[in-house]
Amino acid sequence: LLIGASGQLGRALAARFADRGVIAGAHQHVGPGDVRVDLGDASATRAVLFDVRPDLILVAGAMCNVDLCETEPELCTRINTEGPAVVADYARTQGACVVFFSTDHVFDGTRSTYVETEPVHPLNGYARSKAEAEDALRSLLPDRHLILRTAWVYGPDPQRRNFALRLVDRLQDGAQVPVASDQWGSPTYTEDLASATRDLVDRSVSGTFHATGPEFLSRAVLAVRICAEFSLDAGSLQLRATADLGQLARRPLRVHLDCTKLHGVCDVSFRDLAEGLRSLHTA
Ligand SMILES: NC(=O)c1ccc[n+]([C@@H]2O[C@H](COP(=O)([O-])OP(=O)(O)OC[C@H]3O[C@@H](n4cnc5c(N)ncnc54)[C@H](OP(=O)(O)O)[C@@H]3O)[C@@H](O)[C@H]2O)c1
Repeated sequence: LLIGASGQLGRALAARFADRGVIAGAHQHVGPGDVRVDLGDASATRAVLFDVRPDLILVAGAMCNVDLCETEPELCTRINTEGPAVVADYARTQGACVVFFSTDHVFDGTRSTYVETEPVHPLNGYARSKAEAEDALRSLLPDRHLILRTAWVYGPDPQRRNFALRLVDRLQDGAQVPVASDQWGSPTYTEDLASATRDLVDRSVSGTFHATGPEFLSRAVLAVRICAEFSLDAGSLQLRATADLGQLARRPLRVHLDCTKLHGVCDVSFRDLAEGLRSLHTA
C-alpha cells in the first residue's frame, strides 16, 4: 500500500513499485482504482489497512505545508505523527514492513553536516511531527522500519507542488518572486529517491538513512539555476533574508545530510541539479 500516491514522490514510488502490485492510496486527489486514505483519521486508516492487508506500506503522504502546520498543530500531529503510528501498529501486529519519509528539518542546522545518529532538534511543528513519527516507528517496529530523511524534493507533478515548478509558474505569470537567500539544502529528484527506496526494500534493509541529491546550495542559487534551465528572467527574483520573509514557521537555515550510510548499502546514484532540471523540463 502506497499512502500519498498522488504526491510528487508518491507518483515516482508508484512507478518503481508497479511490478509489486502496489495499491495506491490518496487523500484529496483520488484516481480511478485508488483507495482513499486519510492519515488524520485513525479508525478509517486502520480500516483501509485491514481491508487491503498490505505486507509493505510506503508512507509518502503527509501534511507538508510547514506554515499551515504552525496554525493547525492538532491536524499536523494527527496526520504526520498519529497516522504513521497507526500504520506502524498495524505492521507490528500483522508482520508487515513500513517505509516512512522524513525530513532534513528534524535538525536545527547549527552543525556543518548531520549523520543519522545525531540527536534531532526540530524548530517547527512540521519537523517535530516528523521526528515524533520516526520515534513511533522505531519503538513499534524496531526491525521492520525504513526511515528515509530527505530534502528539497522535486520532480514531475501535475499538482505542481514543488519549489521549482511553482517558481516557473509564478515567473511565467510575470510575478516578482521573493526567494530566501540564506536557506540551504540538497535538491533531491523524486525518481532517484524512489529508486533508492526500491533498492533498499529489495535488500530488506531497515533503519534510518539520509537520502538526498549530491549538491548543497542556497535557494537563491537554485532559483537562478531554474531560471536558466527554463529560460526565465532571474531579474524577477527578489532575494531576501529568511528573517524578512514573514514566514510563520521557523526554519533551519543550513541542514546538510551526510548520505554516506545510504551509499554504503544502495547502488542507486542521485542525479545532480543540472540533470534533474533537464529531466524536469523534458518530463
Ligand atoms: N517536498 C519536500 O521538499 C520534502 C522534503 C523533505 C521530506 N519530504 C517528505 O516526503 C514525503 C513526500 O513529499 P512530497 O513532496 O511528495 O509531497 P506532496 O507532493 O506535497 O504530496 C503530499 C501527499 O500527501 C498526501 N496527503 C496529504 N494529506 C494527507 C492525509 N491527511 N492523509 C493521507 N495522505 C495525505 C497528498 O494526497 P492528496 O494530494 O491526494 O491530497 C499527497 O499525495 C512527505 O512525507 C514529506 O514530508 C518532502
